[in-house]
Amino acid sequence: RPVRIIGAPTDYGANRRGVDMGPSAIRYGGLADELAAAGVSVSDDGDVAAPRAEVRDPEAEAPSEGDAKFLRETREVVTALSDRVTDALDAGETPLVLGGDHSVAIGSVTGSARDADIGLVWFDAHGDFNTPSTSPSGNVHGMPLAALLGVGDFADTPWANADGLREEHVAIVGLRDLDPTEREAINDSDVTAYTMSDIDERGIDAVVDDALDVACSAPDGIHVSLDLDWLDPREAPGVGTPVRGGVTYREAHFALERVAATDALRSMEVVEVNPILDEHNETAALATELAASGLGKRIL
Ligand code: ARG
Ligand code: MN
Ligand code: MN
Ligand code: MN
Repeated sequence: RPVRIIGAPTDYGANRRGVDMGPSAIRYGGLADELAAAGVSVSDDGDVAAPRAEVRDPEAEAPSEGDAKFLRETREVVTALSDRVTDALDAGETPLVLGGDHSVAIGSVTGSARDADIGLVWFDAHGDFNTPSTSPSGNVHGMPLAALLGVGDFADTPWANADGLREEHVAIVGLRDLDPTEREAINDSDVTAYTMSDIDERGIDAVVDDALDVACSAPDGIHVSLDLDWLDPREAPGVGTPVRGGVTYREAHFALERVAATDALRSMEVVEVNPILDEHNETAALATELAASGLGKRIL
């Protein structure tokens, strides 16, 4: 299936860090060439409109309890993104979303899970399972998975809940940094979560295969959400919120090659690339390589 690139240049996730420049950096980092090497035909749908954070009031749409910065902007962007993702799927193409902060996943996954029961693999150092009332930071990039699943404050947030996504079909891989409230919420949920300790103990192959089994038990394919901070900061220095002790370059490629081998990939995103903190755009280039592995690039 042809791939359709959709950029979502947001940085509402936190205090301005620079991840809104991710889509440009990833394109500049050789995305078209990498995908050509994967043997897929590619079109570029441009970026969804994302107002500059500086011209907006972060508190304009504070929910009733707690706080979430830039909730109004997040809603605007993810609603538009969601429609773009659905359009790509309706045209028989595989949407590849370029973030942006991880809140853009709300748009990609709601769009992908419209009239379809999908699985989700969330490669991330973080659980992104906060809600406005539990978040210690108020940053929306720490909330998308809770939003998609309608957890807590998000129970009645139609634009953020993914119709065709059930907790039983969600796997998080690579966890190593959770807020205490997220820890509790993940334990109380039916989401399957694999920490870095699981990878240490069982190896990347066993963990990724189990995670893919969880997601592939949904009938209509899987969405892969790749937060570049899943990798160790030595391999991926250009990310918004680096955490030591992540997966290696080889492990990451291996995981994405396994994704391709399922033949179940429906939609995908790469997020949290921060060109300001990057070294010679290497994290953006890595994002292009990993996307290509996920879409079927092989050496032989
Ligand atoms: N748990 C922290 C928070 O809620 C960090 C979240 C980081 N998320 C990410 N997508 N990088 O603020
Ligand atoms: Mn994340
Ligand atoms: Mn993360
Ligand atoms: Mn707060």
